[in-house]
Amino acid sequence: MKIGVLTSGGDAPGMNAAIRAVVRRSFNLNCECVGYLHGFNGLIKGEWRKMTQASVAGIIQRGGTILRTARSAEFHHQEGRDLAIETLQKTGVEGLVVIGGGGSALAAMALDAMGIPVVTVPSTVDNDLLGTDVTIGHMSAVDTVVQNVNRVRDTATSHERIFVIETMGRDTGHIALDAGLASGAESILVPEIEMPLEEVGRRILRAHARGKSHSIIMMAEGYGHGFDVARQIQDQTGLETRVIVLGHLQRGGSPLASDRIIASRLGARASELLVAGQHGVQVGLISGDYVSTPLAEVTSRHREINLHLYELARSLSG
Ligand code: F6P
Repeated sequence: MKIGVLTSGGDAPGMNAAIRAVVRRSFNLNCECVGYLHGFNGLIKGEWRKMTQASVAGIIQRGGTILRTARSAEFHHQEGRDLAIETLQKTGVEGLVVIGGGGSALAAMALDAMGIPVVTVPSTVDNDLLGTDVTIGHMSAVDTVVQNVNRVRDTATSHERIFVIETMGRDTGHIALDAGLASGAESILVPEIEMPLEEVGRRILRAHARGKSHSIIMMAEGYGHGFDVARQIQDQTGLETRVIVLGHLQRGGSPLASDRIIASRLGARASELLVAGQHGVQVGLISGDYVSTPLAEVTSRHREINLHLYELARSLSG
């Protein structure tokens, strides 16, 4: 059997570890392996290379993706999809592993419906996918936020200022919530939970009256604009407020060990499923066990925020 692999959508730390696992497990199972470059664009344009055991050596610790990635506009059109199928047939691939997030799962589902067996590996810093406890790259991104907040706290304390830290996450608040809990943020703002800024301002003023002179507000990009939030908080409290938009910093860097482990497990499992004739599913890990979830379900909605974590973070913040 010949197995193809590609990475698609926003890159995430651990994608390389997943590629390595797909390629090496395929070889263990006597399969050949082909890597497509630049996500679905590579399929459309016929950009591919033979993957060998050696081609994935020394990448487990590297951020980004050696196969490169893209958000493919062409794949939204039937013409692009037909070209993608043509490339898959030309390269003789009988099963495809797609490593990426929600948009990639949608594209994968379309290919699977067109007769190419596809298994997806959930990898996005956003952690917004159903069917797995955590997506590859999320904890590394959260760790990057936390490391940065450690530094911000020093200057926030020295100047007795409020800091709004804007995180990624698109329409969801998983990064902000996990990073907020892990860094002891005084307030967490996520799109899933209505939290009027007046309430945040009142909390800050109450803390200020108790002698707390600095504050970290962890805000998901889906909640609003960091600069608008900061202006409102400063106007309400009269306290100096600054903003940090962490942006793409969150997507880079060497993956944490936990992401490398999940990526190795899920990448290997994806090859195993294709060889066993299963497809049209995402491989995930729930409570440590492998779970296959139909792509139709994975793409039906975003994973919900953990309200227990939100309440916990709120009750523990001073
Ligand atoms: O989906 C991952 C993500 O990093 C989101 O958190 C963010 O909104 C988006 O991608 C940014 O996309 P781009 O890198 O295309 O600007």
